Parts: sequence; C-alpha cells; structure tokens
Amino acid sequence: MTEIDKLLFQKAYFDKFKTSLRTNLCGELCKGFLEKKVKICGWVNKRRDHGKIIFIDLRDFSGIVQVVFDHNYNPQVYSKAKKLRNEFIVLVEGKVCARSKDTVNEQLTTGEIEIFADELKILSCSKTPPFFVDQREKVDELTKLKYRFIDLRSDEMQRNLRLRSKINTITRDFLNSQGFIEVETPILAKSTPEGARDFLVPSRLNPGKFYALPQSPQLFKQILMFSGFDRIYQIARCFRDEDLRADRQPEFTQIDLEMSFVEIEDVITLVENLLKVIFIEALGFNQSFTFERFSWKESMEKYGSDKPDLRYSLNIEDITEVFKNTSFNIFINVINKKGFIKCLVVDDYNKFSRKDLDDLILIAKQYKAGGLIWARVEDDFNLVSPISKFITNEEKLQLIKKLNLKKGNLLLIVADDFLVACQSLGAIRAFLANKLQLIDYEKYKFSWILNFPMFEWDEQEKRYTTMHHPFTRPTPETEKFLETDPKKVISLAYDIVLNGNEIGGGSIRINDINLQKKVFKVLGFNDNTIESNFGFFIRALEYGAPPHGGIAIGMDRLVMLIAQAESIREVIAFPKTQSATCMMTDSPSEVLEYQLKELSIKVDKGLENK
Ligand code: AMO
Repeated sequence: MTEIDKLLFQKAYFDKFKTSLRTNLCGELCKGFLEKKVKICGWVNKRRDHGKIIFIDLRDFSGIVQVVFDHNYNPQVYSKAKKLRNEFIVLVEGKVCARSKDTVNEQLTTGEIEIFADELKILSCSKTPPFFVDQREKVDELTKLKYRFIDLRSDEMQRNLRLRSKINTITRDFLNSQGFIEVETPILAKSTPEGARDFLVPSRLNPGKFYALPQSPQLFKQILMFSGFDRIYQIARCFRDEDLRADRQPEFTQIDLEMSFVEIEDVITLVENLLKVIFIEALGFNQSFTFERFSWKESMEKYGSDKPDLRYSLNIEDITEVFKNTSFNIFINVINKKGFIKCLVVDDYNKFSRKDLDDLILIAKQYKAGGLIWARVEDDFNLVSPISKFITNEEKLQLIKKLNLKKGNLLLIVADDFLVACQSLGAIRAFLANKLQLIDYEKYKFSWILNFPMFEWDEQEKRYTTMHHPFTRPTPETEKFLETDPKKVISLAYDIVLNGNEIGGGSIRINDINLQKKVFKVLGFNDNTIESNFGFFIRALEYGAPPHGGIAIGMDRLVMLIAQAESIREVIAFPKTQSATCMMTDSPSEVLEYQLKELSIKVDKGLENK
C-alpha cells in the first residue's frame, strides 16, 4: 500500500460501511477477525474451481478477500458456488479462518486469512466482461472508455476518483477556513469572443439565439467582487471546444477563486498554502515545499518554456556573444536580425547515433527553427561539427570557458529569433529528459511564472490577442505602452507550474472602466463590439469595482500529477476521447427532427455526412 492508499483507505472509517446486508468490508478482514462470523458483499474478481473445492476472490472498493466453498464443509453452498462467474455480485456469510502457512498470499492485506462460506446469495449476475478488471493495463483505451462502468471497478480508477474527492474536500475545507464562500455561477452563459471556441446551446424560447457553456466563470467571479462578497470560490465545470491533448478535455474542472483588495503576493501566498495542505493531507508528504519564481522571459531563456520542468537541470545557454564576430553566414544573419544563438550541452555524445541527431533536428524544425547544429567535444577540445571550419580558435576557447565543456560533451545549437530559439531547444530539452532518463519521478517541483507579456501577435488574424485574458491588469510601469507599443506591456498575471505542467493561472484584474476599454481597443474591438460582447460587464464596472484578483487551478491536471496518471482521462469518471466523443453514452449524437424544429435549427446534411 502506498502512502496515498493508506490515507484513502483508513481502517478506522470502515465501520461506517456496516449495513443490513453486510457486517464488514472485504479489504478490512485480517487475523484480528479469526473465528468471527462475517457477512460480506462484493464482486467475483476471480474464480478457481479445484473440483471439490472452489475459491473466489471477492472484491469491494476496500480490497479483496478469498472465499472458500468446500464440498466437505457445506455441500449446498458449494453447489451454488458452481454457478459463479467473474463480476457476479454476491453476499457471502462465513467464518474467518487462518490460511495454512504455504497458502498465505503476501500480496494481499487479507492474505493470511480466508472465509469459509456458510451462505451464498447471488445478488446480480453479469455477462462475461470484455476484460478483467485487474488487467486493465492490457486493454486499449477505447474499449475501456466504452465499458467505463467496468473499468471504474479497477483499483487504479477507484483510487484516482477517491483521491480526487479527497482533494475536493480539502480544498473546500481550506478555502472555507480562509473566509471564502462557495458560489455557483451559470452554466447557460453568454458567448463572448476571445479565448477558445465556445460550446453553444440553442434557446427554444428565443429562436435563433444561443447560450454558451462557460469557458470559465471569469466574469461572474469578478462581478461577485463588485457586489461585495470579498472572497468566493467554486469548483467549477468549464467547457472549451479546442483540440484535445493528454492534459486537455472539452469539459474540465477548475478550482476557481477570486479575492478583493489584494495584490499578487496575497493570491500567491493563499495558493501556496492551499497546495501545501493538499500535498501534506492528500499525499502524506512530510517534506518542505519550495515555490521557485521566474519571470516569463527568464523561464523561456533557461528552460525554453513557460511551464518549466524543474525535476532535472539541463538549462539552455546563450552563446550569441561568443559569435558576435563570426564569419558563419547563418549566425551573421540571425545576429543582424537581433536574434539569438542558444544551445544545450549534453554529457555524452556516445549516446547519440546519427539517426538520433536527425530526430533532434526534426523536433527543432517542428518548432519552426531553420535547423539544429550539433558539435562534439573530442580529444584536446577538438570541436567536431558540420560547421567546425567556421568556428575560430578564439570562439572555441570562449565556448569551453562559458559552457564549462568537457570531453564527450555534445552541443545542440539553434540560431533564430528569441521565441523560436528558446521553444525549439525547450522541446529538445524535454525530449532529452525522457531519453536520457533525467527525471526524478518522486519529485514535485513547483514554480510561479510572472511578468508575462500582456499581448501576443496573432499572425493569422493579424491582430493582438491576450496571453491570459482581457481582464488582466497591466503593470503600472508598462500601462502607458497600451496605446503606443502593446508588445511592451507586461501584465500582472501569474501561472503556477508543477513538473512541467501549467496547473493554474490567474491575475490581478482591471477595475477601472477606461483602462478596460483601452485593452479591448488593443484587441481590435470598437465601441459597438465592446457593447455587444461585454456590455453587461462594462456596466457592472461603471458602478464601482474594488481592486481584485484571482486564479483558477486545473483540478484534473492537479489530480493527474498527484496520482501520477498518464492523462487527465484517468482521473475523470466519464471523460471524452481525443475526438471529443463519449464512448460509453455515444455522445454527441443525432437528435430527432422535431427537436431541431423546436429550436429553429436546420442541419446541413452535407456537413453531417462528412
Ligand atoms: P486558464 O485558461 O489559464 O485560466 O485555465 C486555468 C487552468 O485550467 C486548466 N485548464 C484545463 N484543464 C483541462 N482541460 C482543458 N481544456 C483546460 N484548459 C485549462 C489548466 C489551467 O492552468 N479564467 C482564468 C483564470 C483566472 O484568471 O482566474 C482561466 O480560466 O490547469
């Protein structure tokens, strides 16, 4: 049993499960119960027929216990047991007996005992299941999602959802203790541009009009601050119609909170305390946590990402200065365009075949880099590289000194603009961490990323978009650039990162209507579009808004990381597939013609068949 399991399955709490149908849970039985008569219920996990004796492993959420149906001990019950099959649900009454020494099962907490059955009642039969509950790792994910009701019976899923429930409870208890109240906000909300694509819901009573499912309760939680609630939270369902990945679902859950009269430090302190409580109570961690801080620029420079994984070193180094007088054309062009030459240094080039190097070049290209240059440090600091003839002795000496090079090192160099150089080496850094097994999976490394640029340029749409959202306040020092040079505006936003995953993001908000309008204008809105999209919010701002700020922590991602699960689907009871479908309920599905008619909707059959 892991530390988490011990916390989740506390024996003291088992007596709460005593009901008219059972005296005990399967997983609690042990030598302390010897000779006692017990009544237990559960699922047949496995059945072994040894002729005159049948064994079953009986399973409930607390664990597994062996039940014996012995022809010599009780022939009637024995013959009933012949009907049992996997996943039948039964009630067994019997005596707790010690197992002989050679049959003790050390793998089971109940492994020293077994129940000799005096009574057997079949409560429910089951068809042959499509897979065995304890062999889920061998089953493809789509089958598991189709038969989710069976998959959820597995130890892993039971543990993950119990862990999630515990984190919910701890979060609520902690936030309640800090003066927050829990407020629910609408699920049928208004569609507002910015952010991801909305899920739309047609309104029968208002033909041709649509609600949108909330991407987050952002504006509602801000309005609750305007209304004087001071501190609110919500374990909120959010909906975003975006392309899915292992850490993204179309509907997901956030721990969403908002606070009045605060600055960045107040929100950061509160979140650090919440995370400490979760990690200490849910994980049983008894070590101290550090929360490092990086500016966005620093994080990009060092780790090539705004969600750095700090469980391993391997930092990106800047070597632009070394090549300031280079004769190598590619470097000259990049330097002239105010770009950068950056590199990673890996210990041992012997671990890289030619094909490995080609693979790294492909990764760099996926991140829009023109290419990747490698260089090996051989005997006598001889640099072997496709560009060796362009590297002068002076440059070589500077590289050795700056990067503390040793024989055997491999340099991986990208020369490009700031973002491309950082992001491509960041992706290679993450790839190498796996390949070279640099990650310590026992570690939980948090960091805060601060000082984000407020806007980024969207080349496709040819306009600025916000890196967080339009309600984020710019820093007082850079607010003045809103009208002159939006690229220079830095926001009062913060992200919290855990082991290379963004687990939360928030900001100090704008509480001044003129500033809010200026931000909308940078985003390309005019007075009319501001009114039609955000009129309600602007009106609320006009009646007084306290300084306020907040954050949303992605509950699914947090639980996924604590449970060390591979995807957030493993910590959600009924998740969607990569193509946003539910395999179990077969949704989304077509609806009846009259339903569409009521909603004044016509489906383009051409599109439907695509
Ligand atoms: P943001 O969009 O950064 O901020 O979301 C906050 C956190 O929610 C999680 N998250 C997701 N989890 C699973 N699937 C998704 N599709 C998904 N999208 C986001 C991430 C992320 O860090 N309104 C702001 C918060 C605020 O400013 O208070 C917001 O929603 O862990």
